[in-house]
Amino acid sequence: MGSDLQTYNFNQNSNWFWWPLFPLYPYGTRNTIFKELVSEKVWCFEQLQGLYYVAVPIRMTVVKVPKGLMLFNPLPPTKALIDSLKVLQQKHGPICTIVLPTASGLEHKIPMPAMARAFPKATLWLCPGQWSFPLALPLTWLGFPPNRTRTLFADGLPHQDSCRWISLGPIDIGLGRFQEISCYHKESQSLLVTDALIGIESEPPEIFDLDPTPLLFHAREKGDEPLKDSFSLRKKGWKRLVLFASYLKPDQLKIPSIKTIIKNCFKPGLRNWKSHFGIYPFEWEKNWELSTEEIIGVKSPLLQVAPVIERLVFPRAKSEFLRWLDEIKAIKGMKRIIPAHYSAPINFNDSDCKALRNKINFSEWAPSEKSWSFLGKLDQILLNKNIVPKNPLKAFRD
Ligand SMILES: [Fe+2]
Repeated sequence: MGSDLQTYNFNQNSNWFWWPLFPLYPYGTRNTIFKELVSEKVWCFEQLQGLYYVAVPIRMTVVKVPKGLMLFNPLPPTKALIDSLKVLQQKHGPICTIVLPTASGLEHKIPMPAMARAFPKATLWLCPGQWSFPLALPLTWLGFPPNRTRTLFADGLPHQDSCRWISLGPIDIGLGRFQEISCYHKESQSLLVTDALIGIESEPPEIFDLDPTPLLFHAREKGDEPLKDSFSLRKKGWKRLVLFASYLKPDQLKIPSIKTIIKNCFKPGLRNWKSHFGIYPFEWEKNWELSTEEIIGVKSPLLQVAPVIERLVFPRAKSEFLRWLDEIKAIKGMKRIIPAHYSAPINFNDSDCKALRNKINFSEWAPSEKSWSFLGKLDQILLNKNIVPKNPLKAFRD
């Protein structure tokens, strides 16, 4: 690894032309890595996605089902991704099912129509309660072909012999509903979830090996520092990315004055897009690393409810989260969980699930202190403005 940032070249196989629909980093170039998670049964594709270099892995899982392959949480189908899926198809049969298991996760929803066009014979299964904002558009307008689109539960369930489907929610989040449908794939003893649970580890995910720029950008103290590359800087940048993604504005982060930001930008070597021209509106306190201990595992991924999900989606719906965990813990033979973000697979059996449920049940839920203060304030503003309901379970009680 050199001391200075190298140039990473990507070819047209990583292009994603629909990126303006949801303009997140890395915009029109989506590098993809492919992994086999359970031999001959489960695979995944990972890309990066985020805002202003705050990028975390996003995952599509592929499972073997009796008639071919099922895609769970589609990703932007770049040429490289489609080519890899075609290789899998040759050995394991056609992509027969594509599942969008979330009602609210826009990052998972946007690629669905493009993935559906790439596999015109696949049946599409959607989480109930799909919604769009600012306009409530019908599914056909959102690009879902009506003749092969089904709604989970309302129109039945796909592959019931090999999959068990479990709903988290629905709960009312004001603009629409939060709901996700988890899938327990019996043959591989794997639980597939979307945003409900995540596991974070201390090493930067492998996808950053293709381009570590986001890590190196956030590993700096000031905008006038050039982007240097080393393993320890990658780890430092990763921890800061996790804090941003978890708490949006971590407590240990201060925003410097405009004067300071301007003083440090446009320095030689930084006058380029990659360095954002030296514009770096962040200042970390000395003890910033301490708060990572609560969310980042040391030797293995730390399984948790993402703070954003706990504090902004479920702050007044802990009971529904516990009910979902009760259903999960009753699954016999479960060995692992595969979330749609961060690390996967993570060892997870019924005892682990019971321990997680107890931990959640007996600790404070959705706090507003320390690292959580920004999320707490944001939730209070949304409540005061009546954007989110006081009782998120009321709308779906009957
Ligand atoms: Fe997500």
